[in-house]
Amino acid sequence: MGLLIRGGDIVTAEDRIVADIYIENETVTAIGHNLSAPPGTEVIDATGKLVFPGFIDPHVHIHLPFMSTFAKDTHATASVAALIGGTTTFIEMCCPSRGEDALDGYKTWRQKAEGNSACDYAFHMAVTRFDAKTEADLRQIVLDGTTSFKIFLSYKNFFGITDEEMFRTLRLAAELGVITTAHCENAELVGQLQQLLIAEGKVGPEWHEPSRPEAVEAEGTTRFATFVGQTGATGYIVHLSCEPALRAAIEAKVRDVRLYVEVVVPHLLLDKSYAERPGVEGMKHVMSPPLRDRRNQSVLWTALKEGLIDTVGTDHCPFDIEQKRLGSSAFTQIPNGIPGIEDRVNLMYTYGVKRGLLDLHRFVDALSASPARIFGLYPRKGTIAVGSDADLVIYDPAYRGTISAATQHTNNDYNGFEGFPIEGRPAVVTVRGKVQVRDGVFVGEPSRGRLLRRVPQHPRRGVQYAS
Ligand code: URP
Ligand code: ZN
Ligand code: ZN
Repeated sequence: MGLLIRGGDIVTAEDRIVADIYIENETVTAIGHNLSAPPGTEVIDATGKLVFPGFIDPHVHIHLPFMSTFAKDTHATASVAALIGGTTTFIEMCCPSRGEDALDGYKTWRQKAEGNSACDYAFHMAVTRFDAKTEADLRQIVLDGTTSFKIFLSYKNFFGITDEEMFRTLRLAAELGVITTAHCENAELVGQLQQLLIAEGKVGPEWHEPSRPEAVEAEGTTRFATFVGQTGATGYIVHLSCEPALRAAIEAKVRDVRLYVEVVVPHLLLDKSYAERPGVEGMKHVMSPPLRDRRNQSVLWTALKEGLIDTVGTDHCPFDIEQKRLGSSAFTQIPNGIPGIEDRVNLMYTYGVKRGLLDLHRFVDALSASPARIFGLYPRKGTIAVGSDADLVIYDPAYRGTISAATQHTNNDYNGFEGFPIEGRPAVVTVRGKVQVRDGVFVGEPSRGRLLRRVPQHPRRGVQYAS
């Protein structure tokens, strides 16, 4: 049975047109005026609504063993939360520990997701150790269609890798045409500063930011960019949080280093005063890189608007209040992370588009088209065009609401954006032509989601030493 979406204001990264969309067999097959509806077609009236391509969250944690606990969501809860918020595809970080083989970890993550996600998904494969076995495993994983790696310069002795391992990972990535995403903080400096602060009795969550100051992130960014340049690889900096790191990234870009930059919603909308709140209120807002001084926010928004920052993700990482309390006697033990998969689109529409900080096309670009292009999903995802997957968000700009843990769908007992008003939300969300959400309610197939297999898109660039 076909689906006809009538009279919506269709907005992509490039175009805007009021028209009808016809969908058959999971795909957009026609866009035009007064399209006819064959008998049996389901018709949705989108008059007065915006119609966006399904949004893509390029940075999500669902299954995550981390800091002696596990993030709270399952693929079922996270995917429903994503869809209710207008995200129809997420890319999850597959993060085996350093002691685990990459392929074993990959199989675990694949099994956890398979048949359990209501929306489509892909993985970034974390490289948490690099040796001959890892290299062989990574070659297989890329052949399976997972064509992006993740490395951590931080989290020493856990996910973190050495500079030698980073070099070897990037060389392999360049050879395979795979993009490497990176968490850029200097692990040694973080560890040393943490020890100093704890020794001085500075144990509360307000000391998390001083233990990983902006310079620590700028150093990690510069080092990653230098390694990317020297290996001819393509890099993607995840959750860049502050002006000095942004400057480092831009300096590398102007040296023609192939580098993309992601910002995540907490760094755009929350500042370090949230983590300075006493007790567990502060702990709820501990993530890495940390929430920063407020002066960084306008810099990040401008860079996003101008395209110096490419994408907006969430770094969705739900730990509940009980888990956050693991850090009651030392901020170093607070599980790092803030959830956000459900709220990214509405927050960015409200505080970006409605406040005049982002135009509608750049909004779609940063939250959908650019993640699709960078990670090899375009034009299957990231646009509304004949032949594209019919992942659509019919968006109601007249909706008014307030973010609250009491009404959220992610499996957590707090929301870092509690009390934030929102101006707009998805009225209907489709995944490959199937209506999955209506007015904030999941009405679809819990196991509709599929693993998106991709092909390498980032061939090695010419450098002196990369042969
Ligand atoms: O604090 C964070 N960001 N937690 C999730 C792990 C990571 O670094 O992305
Ligand atoms: Zn990270
Ligand atoms: Zn992350």
